[in-house]
Amino acid sequence: MRLIEEHSIAGQAVSSPEILVIGGGKGGVGKTCFAVNVAVEIARKGWQVILVDADLSCSNIETVLGTRAERHLDDFFHQRGAKDLQPLLCETQYDNLSFLPGTTGLLDVANPRYQQKAAFIRELRRLDADLIIVDLDAGAHLNTLDLFLMTDTNGVLMITPEKTSIDNAFKFLRAALFRRIERFYQSPELGLLLKDNETLSEFVECVRDSDVFDEVTRQRVCRELVALAGAIKPKILVNRAHNAYEAQIAANILAKFARQHLMIETLNLGFLYFDKCVSDSVNSGIPFIVSRPRVRVSGCIADIANRLGYV
Ligand SMILES: Nc1ncnc2c1ncn2[C@@H]1O[C@H](COP(=O)(O)OP(=O)(O)OP(=O)(O)O)[C@@H](O)[C@H]1O
Ligand SMILES: [Mg+2]
Repeated sequence: MRLIEEHSIAGQAVSSPEILVIGGGKGGVGKTCFAVNVAVEIARKGWQVILVDADLSCSNIETVLGTRAERHLDDFFHQRGAKDLQPLLCETQYDNLSFLPGTTGLLDVANPRYQQKAAFIRELRRLDADLIIVDLDAGAHLNTLDLFLMTDTNGVLMITPEKTSIDNAFKFLRAALFRRIERFYQSPELGLLLKDNETLSEFVECVRDSDVFDEVTRQRVCRELVALAGAIKPKILVNRAHNAYEAQIAANILAKFARQHLMIETLNLGFLYFDKCVSDSVNSGIPFIVSRPRVRVSGCIADIANRLGYV
């Protein structure tokens, strides 16, 4: 079931781990709680999982997982020369689950350069695991967008069934798409046009009518824009839902916005029930999938692990 990507070390093909990135724009929607619990669930089934705290400004997986790290991601960004993430990996109290701690929140590390982020992503892909789960921070900062874009089909947009959350997730996805376009062309002219538009459909129209480019270029760019958007297929996950119907409506609204305005097709990863045991588990440092395996929200985590192919 797993998507196997291949890269090469010293000329030898090596299979890369699958990477699942948890984002979504709004703070406090439950990204970290989900990342920790689904990581523990998949590891308990025997898959090798690495949980990555990529919240570069305010990491807190350590608290939710109930683990303390000796070293932090700061060491990686401060390291000179060849960089390696392996020495930063910490064992956890769960078999098959290791953990890459976040940063201490120092300013210079919260704003790594593009090359530093590229090195971080490259090193993540070289880690030895079946699955790497990356927990992002809130907002649509360039760091968060660049990390979200490290996978085309395994970015999770976590929302709650509230308008503000759906709206933030849409804006986050739009910012990610526009960032992808900007990095693809690295063209000041297109960058300027992009800033004037709120949706991809408007931007495509704008390029079509623009007199900055010749006709052949205009047609090529329009085709490329549609292809760039078509390559991104995020998975929508609804948290804090009171029932399946409420979750489905929220997911459908976001899916419709993404299709209409960004030409992006989304997939539905499912939903998690609202349950007070989630906050109790944060306070105790024991993931609810461990302390409360029989509650409905734990059943949702198990379903999602299966849906991701980790049976
Ligand atoms: N399904 C749920 N039911 C009830 N409460 C929940 C649920 N999921 C998360 N919470 C509560 O929401 C709080 C915030 O969750 P979490 O820290 O995972 O959000 P986040 O999206 O990672 O936030 P940030 O963007 O700040 O990193 C948790 O402390 C928990 O109490
Ligand atoms: Mg978080």
